[in-house]
Amino acid sequence: MAPRDDIAVPALECRGLSKRYGTGRIVLAQLDFTLAPGEFVAIMGDSGVGKSTLLNLIAGLDRADSGSVMIDGRAVDQLDDNAATRLRRQKLGFVFQAFHVLPHLTLAQNVALPLLLNDLPTASALDMLAAVGLGSRGDDFPRELSGGELQRVAIARALVHRPTLILADEPTGNLDPATAHDVLGLFRAQSKATGAATIMVTHSEAAAAVADRVMVLSDGGLHAASTKFAQAGGPLAHASPARSTDDAR
Ligand SMILES: Nc1ncnc2c1ncn2[C@@H]1O[C@H](COP(=O)(O)OP(=O)(O)OP(=O)(O)O)[C@@H](O)[C@H]1O
Ligand SMILES: [Mg+2]
Repeated sequence: MAPRDDIAVPALECRGLSKRYGTGRIVLAQLDFTLAPGEFVAIMGDSGVGKSTLLNLIAGLDRADSGSVMIDGRAVDQLDDNAATRLRRQKLGFVFQAFHVLPHLTLAQNVALPLLLNDLPTASALDMLAAVGLGSRGDDFPRELSGGELQRVAIARALVHRPTLILADEPTGNLDPATAHDVLGLFRAQSKATGAATIMVTHSEAAAAVADRVMVLSDGGLHAASTKFAQAGGPLAHASPARSTDDAR
């Protein structure tokens, strides 16, 4: 066995996470999950199974009924509100399906936002924009961009402050297959370059194929997917590029 010093603190550890809304059905039931530093994991599962709920609990946007979330070795639920907010601001980055780029800020200002919120110098915002191929567009406004470009801005913004953990909820759900493929490649490359561990919720097997590991959420828990999902370039890498109903917002 490796000596203790060699055991890295997980980027994320969920223990016994349970959630039900009101008196409705149980969404998450004693869910356990560990994510290693720098690991890129895809989470798949049927619509309504609780994928976004899980991300919301991890992000502190919603409260679990029981269980704990540890980010970079710290139990978020044991911190007071201010400390929990600070931890999330420093350690988390988000990429959403609908981009959530602020329309009245330039691209450079959008990407600089997490740096400002963390009292960090903002110069690296332009480097991060360049890293996603938008180095010359810093003064442009979001309305001047395509969907794929907007998602690249959102990725740059999620990574710029070098968070421990990136949460991405269907980040390519609004993109055409070719653009989705490009954005995913860049997302994975930049996650790896900044050392962020990443959870990407997706309905697309092609998207899941870029992950180091694929998990399926069902019956309130996460289960390892059959290995065929995880083989980048394998037969499923070209299948079902986009999903039907819920992608159309
Ligand atoms: N705020 C809420 N109040 C009540 N029920 C909710 C709430 N948020 C989610 N739910 C329910 O919890 C379940 C899980 O929802 P969730 O959004 O996590 O699913 P999902 O796996 O992300 O689905 P999709 O793939 O369609 O995005 C659903 O049955 C949903 O109706
Ligand atoms: Mg969802």
